[in-house]
Amino acid sequence: MNIVLVTDKPRANAVEYFCIAHGGRLVALVNLTDQPYENQHITSYTISDIPRIGHDLVIVDCHDAPFVISQIKNYKTAEIYDYWPNRHKLLGLLKQSNLLCKRKFEVENDRLLVGTEFYSCDHKVIEDIPSSNTDDLQSQTIDEIYEAYNQACLKYPDLDEKYQTGENWRNFMKGSRPNFYSAIQRSDKEALSDLLSNFFRNELTGGTFGGKEGYDGFCASGNEVVELRSYFNVWKQCVPDTPIQELNNPPVGNPYGVSVEGALLNSNNFCNHYRSIFLSRLFSDIDNPVIAELGAGFGGLAYYLSKNNTDITYINFDLPENLMVSSYYLKSIFPDKKIKLYDGSSAPISREELQEYDLVLLPHFCLPRLTKLSIDLFINTISLSEMDFLNIETYFEEVQRVTRQYFYHENMLDNGAGYKYFPTSVFPELADYKLLMNAPSRWPAFSLSSPGHCHMEFLYQRNNGPTNKNTTIGDNL
Ligand SMILES: C[S@@+](CC[C@H](N)C(=O)[O-])C[C@H]1O[C@@H](n2cnc3c(N)ncnc32)[C@H](O)[C@@H]1O
Repeated sequence: MNIVLVTDKPRANAVEYFCIAHGGRLVALVNLTDQPYENQHITSYTISDIPRIGHDLVIVDCHDAPFVISQIKNYKTAEIYDYWPNRHKLLGLLKQSNLLCKRKFEVENDRLLVGTEFYSCDHKVIEDIPSSNTDDLQSQTIDEIYEAYNQACLKYPDLDEKYQTGENWRNFMKGSRPNFYSAIQRSDKEALSDLLSNFFRNELTGGTFGGKEGYDGFCASGNEVVELRSYFNVWKQCVPDTPIQELNNPPVGNPYGVSVEGALLNSNNFCNHYRSIFLSRLFSDIDNPVIAELGAGFGGLAYYLSKNNTDITYINFDLPENLMVSSYYLKSIFPDKKIKLYDGSSAPISREELQEYDLVLLPHFCLPRLTKLSIDLFINTISLSEMDFLNIETYFEEVQRVTRQYFYHENMLDNGAGYKYFPTSVFPELADYKLLMNAPSRWPAFSLSSPGHCHMEFLYQRNNGPTNKNTTIGDNL
């Protein structure tokens, strides 16, 4: 959406920022003062020039706005808005914009130079995305993850109470995945293969990505760029130098979203990509780091972590139903990586054994098999608060037993509605760790301004943890 700004304030940054944040492109500035406009990046015009500048809106930010508007009206032009009284209306109009924008700054001779980057959201992508899997890879992947799932199910009757699925997820999966459980009951691998090939759009990602409801809502929505922009704005400030194409969804699971500069994107990509960059900094000076995640959902964070760090071992511990989805996703994307799936074993797993693999994908109850302090970084996002308190206590004990360096988690601060939840303020203490950072979630759906489930991120470091890669952890810890 192209905008002409008419101002008698040589610093009209508030309006400029408003436009950028909501997808407006300032194409011209009419400066009514005799001082130069502070940010000379926008070409200056006069009121009489306005009709020949291609634009959709004129925004007026002047002391005597009614008088200026009456002058502009002498020329045939698009709709004119006095900025301050009409900010909400302008927000509504900017919803039609297909741009993502970020200002960039430089200093030259003590002067701030301002520019803007624009990314264009070309269209909504809801047509099917053909899978990259060959028929052979697909059937081999399904065979392997089906076997791993069955092995996990065999252990279920004897599971300690601590590892039983909590009330929320037990009821939710039972009620929302009829096709999955039916395919399993019938040992129907073809049906399973079909469900997994389309997991982004069906019941298999209910509770982790949006499932069928999320897909139907997206197809019906006219606001997809507004939502994407709210995530883009956070992401772009955090990792300004990353090309947006790096976030592109691989063609696995029939993803959908918005096409941006040739990349297929949805808001989830921005969170997972940013988290992967931030978390990678924590282990950048460790050789062959071992990273564990509890409850990885469909595996979005694991994808970026594994794609950008070829020397890590990444482990996911998850409920078998969701583990099947992330296993399918990661095995399909990374057919050449060395991946360990569950084989029914109960044997301990050492750090050295873990380091033989790129990815280790295990049911949640295998966590106690890890030997002490075998993990450099333990991650959990948007999950612990949804578990039973006994599960949370158990995992906190385990995290402390296995994690030699960092524990990062983002969980619910307040405002859980519609299901049982435990806020982070009642989580067990991490006696062996110091808190390095905590802050309310930066992501729109989880932030303090979200209408539901506000989250908080936490980064802990083990007390007296190794400070460099040469330090060895003693067995006496
Ligand atoms: C809302 S999803 C979050 C997925 C992902 N971490 C994210 O941030 O997008 C919750 C995840 O927690 C997992 N989960 C729920 N209860 C669990 C339990 N008792 N043990 C391990 N994982 C569990 C679910 O299977 C799912 O993967």
